Amino acid sequence: MLHNLKPHSEELFSLEVKELKKYYPIKKNFFNLAKVNKNPQMVKALNGVSFFLKAGETIAVVGESGCGKSTLAKQISLLERPTSGDIIIQGKNTVGLSKKEIQQFRTQVQMVFQNPYASLNPRATIGKQLEEPLRINTDLTAKERKEKVLELMGLVGLIPEYYDRFPHMFSGGQRQRMAIARAMILNPKIVIADEPTSALDVSIQAQVLNLFLDLQDQFKTSYLFISHNLSVVEHIADRVIVMYLGKIVEFGSKKAIYQSPMHPYTQVLLSSSPSVYAKDRKNKIKVTGELPSPLDIPLGCAFNQRCPYATDECRSLVPELRSIEGTYVACHHAEKIK
Ligand SMILES: Nc1ncnc2c1ncn2[C@@H]1O[C@H](COP(=O)(O)OP(=O)(O)OP(=O)(O)O)[C@@H](O)[C@H]1O
Ligand code: SF4
Ligand SMILES: [Mg+2]
Repeated sequence: MLHNLKPHSEELFSLEVKELKKYYPIKKNFFNLAKVNKNPQMVKALNGVSFFLKAGETIAVVGESGCGKSTLAKQISLLERPTSGDIIIQGKNTVGLSKKEIQQFRTQVQMVFQNPYASLNPRATIGKQLEEPLRINTDLTAKERKEKVLELMGLVGLIPEYYDRFPHMFSGGQRQRMAIARAMILNPKIVIADEPTSALDVSIQAQVLNLFLDLQDQFKTSYLFISHNLSVVEHIADRVIVMYLGKIVEFGSKKAIYQSPMHPYTQVLLSSSPSVYAKDRKNKIKVTGELPSPLDIPLGCAFNQRCPYATDECRSLVPELRSIEGTYVACHHAEKIK
């Protein structure tokens, strides 16, 4: 099982996630009210996800829309409580903690969203809202807080004159820099970024990605970086998680995933993406069919209806994640396919 995949050293992980599940009940629906009330149908948005994140590394999470990426982000950032499983931050299990204790943990895990307005208050100046977490969580004096804010603004490329301005006075790229500064102000161990560059102009995306990398160099923050854009992921990730319908189907180093993807789904995802590793890839496969509904996940391997290699075993037995040459893959026939 993946949660046995720790290295042998006693390294303290920034994050360990074990068998994480999040099921959402489907709300009442006009056609089957009675049935839904008694036994609500569940969306298995996360269906047993396990991995670990090391200090100062970036894991990117990729996969089609609806595969559970944002649900994973919401559980780890403690915005929601999971249905089951463990989320261990800096060696401490957060599942079962009281609301107050969760509040303390929130300072360790910060989020950056696609739309910076989600984390910026349009009615407060940039300086005030960057200071706010310091005011609540530290004993710094007003003068010290302002100094720290100005220092961080400098690090994210915002000049001191912006301190007294409001978010609407800035471009999307500048606002995302402010949101990143806000996420970093308490020096969190983990930053979860959910599509942080998708809403930005392509010319600005690279600058913001490089900012993430510079800040990581300086503060040794661990990133969980969610993105649809495989070129962005190639730029920023150390390791890559590929998700399909609430499960991890492949998890390995960026090089292994981009150069020799093992899971047929990873091969499909990457087949249309330019990459410095593309020329070394052997497999070029095509899939048929649509993504199944998360309410009706196929038996056995969830990918079997779209996979050209599917066998009877694939249609009846769920493939567990297992290690092949240092990469974790959930496919019965990975050795033959790769
Ligand atoms: N609060 C909720 N109530 C019910 N279903 C939900 C809820 N949040 C998410 N879901 C469902 O869970 C599944 C996973 O959603 P999630 O937002 O995590 O996907 P995603 O991978 O982030 O997709 P995208 O790439 O479009 O952002 C989807 O089927 C979604 O409809
Ligand atoms: S387990 Fe079977 S259906 Fe699933 S990806 Fe592997 S070969 Fe395809
Ligand atoms: Mg999402």
